[in-house]
Amino acid sequence: VRTAIVVVAAGSGTRLGRDEPKAFVEVHGVSILEHALRGVFGAVEPLQVIVVAPAALVARARAIGEHVAGAASAHLTVVAGGDTRQRSVAAGLAVLADGIDQVLVHDAARALAPASLIDRVVHAVRTGGGDGVVPALAMIDTVKRVDGDRVVGAVDRSDLVTVQTPQGFPRAQLLAAYASVADDHTDDAALYAAAGHGILTVPGEPLAFKITTPWDLARAERLVDASDG
Ligand code: C5P
Repeated sequence: VRTAIVVVAAGSGTRLGRDEPKAFVEVHGVSILEHALRGVFGAVEPLQVIVVAPAALVARARAIGEHVAGAASAHLTVVAGGDTRQRSVAAGLAVLADGIDQVLVHDAARALAPASLIDRVVHAVRTGGGDGVVPALAMIDTVKRVDGDRVVGAVDRSDLVTVQTPQGFPRAQLLAAYASVADDHTDDAALYAAAGHGILTVPGEPLAFKITTPWDLARAERLVDASDG
């Protein structure tokens, strides 16, 4: 196994408006974490899977992971996260196995991200010559710059994209970037770029949207319902 994927699931998910941490909220009777891990364990690339869970829910996350992994459970590690996403990723990076030379970082909240997206990112990192890799989608909506409630400018969207996870990196460079970059970044590509590296895009997947609001949860419910037939 040469590739690891760190699945961060330690957020509280307050914007979802549920009592439970987001990864344990169910979509069609199955937790967000379990949905995400079905995609991860469906990848063709053999993976070390590192799940980063809220400290109080590590055992529950391990049970979910073992259930999905089945015979691949030997490649599963579950650790407790931190109080920011970046700290949670760092906790996952601390348990990379020997022999891993590339690392993907993935949000559990992107519960319906397909396995094919993971394989696409793995391939791009392998051929990317040291660059990081992010899945990207063209912007659909027109974008404005505002000051309070006033529009102060138009933004040309033709060279803008929105980015998703999993994001992939060569192991040594990612660990060095995590060791050297202090401030909090919203994604790993930003942290990697801050350390002076280039970032490539691969085509993203609409299904890899992040479940953040009750509306996203409702959308995920309908998508899973439709695919269950
Ligand atoms: O809050 P947001 O949806 O942006 O979080 C993105 C991902 O990062 C989620 O899967 C969440 O569980 C994870 N996260 C984490 N530790 C934190 C904050 C967020 O693992 N402290």
